[in-house]
Amino acid sequence: MRVVIAGGHGKIALLLERLLAERGDQAVGLIRNPAHVTDVREAGAEAVICDLETASADDVAVLLAGADAVVFAAGAGAGSGAPRKDSVDRAGSALMAEAAEQAGVRRFVQVSSMGAGQPPRPGTDEVWAAYITAKTAAEADLRARDLDWTILRPGGLTDAPATGRIRLAPPPVPAGTVPRADVAAVIAALLDNPGTGHQTLELVGGDNPVATAVQSIS
Ligand SMILES: NC(=O)c1ccc[n+]([C@@H]2O[C@H](COP(=O)([O-])OP(=O)(O)OC[C@H]3O[C@@H](n4cnc5c(N)ncnc54)[C@H](OP(=O)(O)O)[C@@H]3O)[C@@H](O)[C@H]2O)c1
Repeated sequence: MRVVIAGGHGKIALLLERLLAERGDQAVGLIRNPAHVTDVREAGAEAVICDLETASADDVAVLLAGADAVVFAAGAGAGSGAPRKDSVDRAGSALMAEAAEQAGVRRFVQVSSMGAGQPPRPGTDEVWAAYITAKTAAEADLRARDLDWTILRPGGLTDAPATGRIRLAPPPVPAGTVPRADVAAVIAALLDNPGTGHQTLELVGGDNPVATAVQSIS
């Protein structure tokens, strides 16, 4: 399987690239910073330069030729302000989804966030509100497209080692945390289970082995 990952140098993306390479799949990491090429290659993926805030859907569609799936794992990141929540977390996902439609790549896994899907609470910090608004809009954009999408909303991300055990279900799932390594394993399993298409799933740490949890909602 050839999988193109937007945000290819992100923490989840690098873990996913390793998992895909280990099982013989071809991962392609889209990155904006040429200094990240070595890390992406070391993770076993092909590195392709593509800035999601300047590329056109036509540009990205060319990069998706021959792909079997797209994973949106980019994000403006913790230090960014409200405008980049919109230009990366919302518009970057919409760009990838538009390009996937153009290129005929139907399978699309979007990394969203728990908290998306509801308006930000009144009085919420402005940047957090912009983040949740952007993720909610990115989800709505994806649901409206003719793609085999799965929206994955992890809880708070940690850098702890993989546990292999999760709680994965349609919302609402009680708030919690989850290691990025387990998120990567869930994405790899979702790619193997197209029956998870057209579902929005929330993810936190739990008791169920990843493969069992993913198969049970397929
Ligand atoms: N933090 C949490 O607790 C939490 C919870 C739930 C969901 N999430 C979501 O999970 C996703 C992945 O998380 P993570 O920790 O793996 O993220 P991460 O390490 O911050 O990675 C995000 C990647 O997106 C890339 N990116 C940003 N702007 C870009 C652009 N214009 N063009 C191309 N790439 C760009 C970044 O590249 P640069 O290095 O070049 O900036 C970075 O490699 C994000 O969407 C995040 O919002 C986070």
